Amino acid sequence: MFRQTRVRKAVFPVAGMGTRFLPATKSIPKELLPLVDRPLIQYAIDEARAAGIEEFIFVTARGKTALEDYLDHAPHLAESLRRGNKTSLLEELESTRMPSGSVAYARQDEPRGLGHAVWCARHLVKDEPFAVILPDDVIAGATPCLRQMVDAYRTCGGNLVAAMHVPPEAVGSYGILSSSAPDAALCAVDGMVEKPSPETAPSTLAVVGRYILDPSVLTHLSRAQVGAGGEIQLTDAIAAEIGRTGVHGFRFEGERYDCGSKAGFLRATVAFALARPDLRDDFRQCLAGATQVGVAAE
Ligand code: G1P
Repeated sequence: MFRQTRVRKAVFPVAGMGTRFLPATKSIPKELLPLVDRPLIQYAIDEARAAGIEEFIFVTARGKTALEDYLDHAPHLAESLRRGNKTSLLEELESTRMPSGSVAYARQDEPRGLGHAVWCARHLVKDEPFAVILPDDVIAGATPCLRQMVDAYRTCGGNLVAAMHVPPEAVGSYGILSSSAPDAALCAVDGMVEKPSPETAPSTLAVVGRYILDPSVLTHLSRAQVGAGGEIQLTDAIAAEIGRTGVHGFRFEGERYDCGSKAGFLRATVAFALARPDLRDDFRQCLAGATQVGVAAE
């Protein structure tokens, strides 16, 4: 069945404990760690807004209240900046303001995997196609990744996952797609497996953290069995739609930074700092003094 509906809702799974960034994440949700001066979650929200998303659903957990404060309006701070004539800072602040009523929260009560986190948002998503954005995956590009996907989704419907080729030794960190046309920009998927071993992986085409999903995926999640790593996997629920609403892989244009790892986070920090007109000259000098670093973000 081809269900052609506008994608208005996005789910942001933000319940993870961020143990890779301890001790910082002992009290700061990892989604609030800044790339230069904007928290990771802000990049994800900006990308969603650029794709036309109107309802923002955050799946949180214990210890994430700072995230709710971040997403709230800060009238005292705004007023103080206004009084101090700090116009550009005020603009920065206002650029993060969410329209009233556009933010909703679901709570993941147990860490049972990405599929379980998305399922926890089912009553907010209801019966319409929705996006999922993993804020750890930051994607820089002339056209934001989710915008590219919303445009592609108009032609294919069903389920669409962002995809990129990864080195063969890295397949065990990703959901991996099987397709008869793995190099096409938009490829029909005939199988997908979560974190396969390099020996059994069907390809090197990996899912990265952007999805547009049919609500039937939530039904599969309701019946989900534990999968790879003993967790309820989103990949398995999407795979159940192969041959039904259908699954496509989308080779987006842009550079993806794995901000779930320290090295990836640092690489993103360097790239985003070098892309900033107010920082790039000083920072370039600083880097030249330290080491030779090749960056593709300019
Ligand atoms: C999750 C998904 C995986 C996907 C990856 C992209 O894994 O389960 O399919 O390839 O995100 O970043 P995680 O990184 O949460 O282990």
